[in-house]
Amino acid sequence: MGVVVAVDGPAGSGKSSVSREAAVRLGYAFLDTGAAYRALAWAVLRAGLDPESTHDVEAVLDGFALHSADDPAERWVRVGDVDVTEAIRAPEVSAAVSGVARVPAVRSTLNDGFRARLAAASPGVVVEGRDITTVVAPDADVRVLLTARPEVRAARRARELPDQDHGKVAAAIAERDARDSRVVDFLEAAEGVTTLDSSDLDFDGTVEALVALVRRAPDRG
Ligand code: DC
Repeated sequence: MGVVVAVDGPAGSGKSSVSREAAVRLGYAFLDTGAAYRALAWAVLRAGLDPESTHDVEAVLDGFALHSADDPAERWVRVGDVDVTEAIRAPEVSAAVSGVARVPAVRSTLNDGFRARLAAASPGVVVEGRDITTVVAPDADVRVLLTARPEVRAARRARELPDQDHGKVAAAIAERDARDSRVVDFLEAAEGVTTLDSSDLDFDGTVEALVALVRRAPDRG
């Protein structure tokens, strides 16, 4: 197995874009685990089923064929042969995803797939999500919790979604954090996990801080 860099954090921490760019700079593969949960939520909605129903979600999980890019310079996600790269970012998918992510069979099935991807990565992989440092890859070479103050996270999301009301964006983030943290605790760093607070760093500074943690890790980077 190559070097595994596990990054967890809440919505708006910059986790996805920072982890992807760190993977580019390190020459590693990249795995966005949230995209897998989003793709499943998309598939449930597309089938006209209820993301809050365990039965409905398990029905879609059975036969769910997910494919995504390993190369951090690429960004595609496919379900079967449908490209869902953009569709999985839609607000209705964001609203449905916590319901899907709380189903135990979903978590164990997706985790098996993630672990297979990590095992195959060479020379390394940056993998980001909510429970990577604790559940998916607790033995990762580098384990980081990327955080930012709630108001900073809300402001970043609002910049990404300029057409939407700032207050509503902040409320949606707070609600998703609350729902997600009932499933996995990603707001506190687990033992041995380094907290990286990006509140007062710009994008490049945050990427460099993450890359530095990888290069400083014993025998790694
Ligand atoms: O990081 P993101 O916003 O794309 O994640 C989408 C959702 O998936 C998020 O609401 C929580 C869930 N998720 C999870 O439960 N476990 C992970 N490892 C990654 C994401």
